[in-house]
Amino acid sequence: MGKIVAICNQKGGTGKTTSAVNICSFLAVANKKILLVDIDPQGNATSGLGIDTTGLTISVYNAILEQVDIEGAILNTAVPNLALIPSHLDLTGAEVELVGVMGREFRLKKALDQIRHKFDLIVIDCPPSLGLLTINALTAADSIIIPIQCEYYALVGLSLLARTMNLVKDHLNPALEIEGVLLTMADYRTNLTNEVIEEARTYFKQKVYKTVIPRNIKLTEAPGFGKPIVLYDRKSIGAQKYLDLCKEIMGPQAIDEQIIEEILSSTKLQEQSTGISKLNLEKKIESPEQTAVE
Ligand SMILES: Nc1ncnc2c1ncn2[C@@H]1O[C@H](COP(=O)(O)OP(=O)(O)OP(=O)(O)O)[C@@H](O)[C@H]1O
Ligand SMILES: [Mg+2]
Repeated sequence: MGKIVAICNQKGGTGKTTSAVNICSFLAVANKKILLVDIDPQGNATSGLGIDTTGLTISVYNAILEQVDIEGAILNTAVPNLALIPSHLDLTGAEVELVGVMGREFRLKKALDQIRHKFDLIVIDCPPSLGLLTINALTAADSIIIPIQCEYYALVGLSLLARTMNLVKDHLNPALEIEGVLLTMADYRTNLTNEVIEEARTYFKQKVYKTVIPRNIKLTEAPGFGKPIVLYDRKSIGAQKYLDLCKEIMGPQAIDEQIIEEILSSTKLQEQSTGISKLNLEKKIESPEQTAVE
């Protein structure tokens, strides 16, 4: 039965979505069956995987609010073995709509419990808040990964997250634990990065992953192409570090790089015959924002 891991930090922009998308994609091309659940109304994990939600009739919103069969919300992505339950703008109102709902904290858990046996791992990308959507994620999850950006005030606010976790453990999900703390966007040219890493290790001890994700431009660019780093630039330092992280999370023997290469080369062939890359490129050129970046 698939483990459920929530990627959570109420602070904005700490690398939750980048980590969710790239951990899921690497594990998927390593032949694990992975489901990514995007419960952030911003829908960055959904768009980062190249999924356009215009015209989509079922999203995680319907599964949580209307208890529609969650199976109908599962989409395939361009990454082999990676399925996605997309976010939708409707989720923006979900925090308020959930307030009066019976068993409001358990809606996501109830939905995911029906399908978890189909996956090796389910990852939930949380929004930057500690509202009811995040509480739903913490109630559904077996464990959480906390990404921390190596910047000023990196650890400020974490006591609030710890308090929320403890409340969830006491009342909703006693088995919830910290899977790991992930340091992201490290810039070793600054003393600050080393200070934050040291501070995080003092506070969270062995829960902090040995792998630290550096600041890497390729990781920033990839979502604009609707691709995870493993499909966008497999040789970049960002890709290598997310692969190292996956080995740390799953154990090195769980990841066979030979299998990754085989799956990637068959994906490339498929892309060439279906024109997936070309479509992404066209989408990129159509977007005025991204044309300006070029
Ligand atoms: N290692 C990295 N190197 C460079 N840029 C990064 C890295 N990780 C994330 N980013 C960029 O930083 C920004 C914030 O990252 P991301 O969206 O993953 O954070 P988040 O915690 O999901 O944000 P939010 O709280 O808004 O959901 C994005 O523009 C992303 O592309
Ligand atoms: Mg995000």
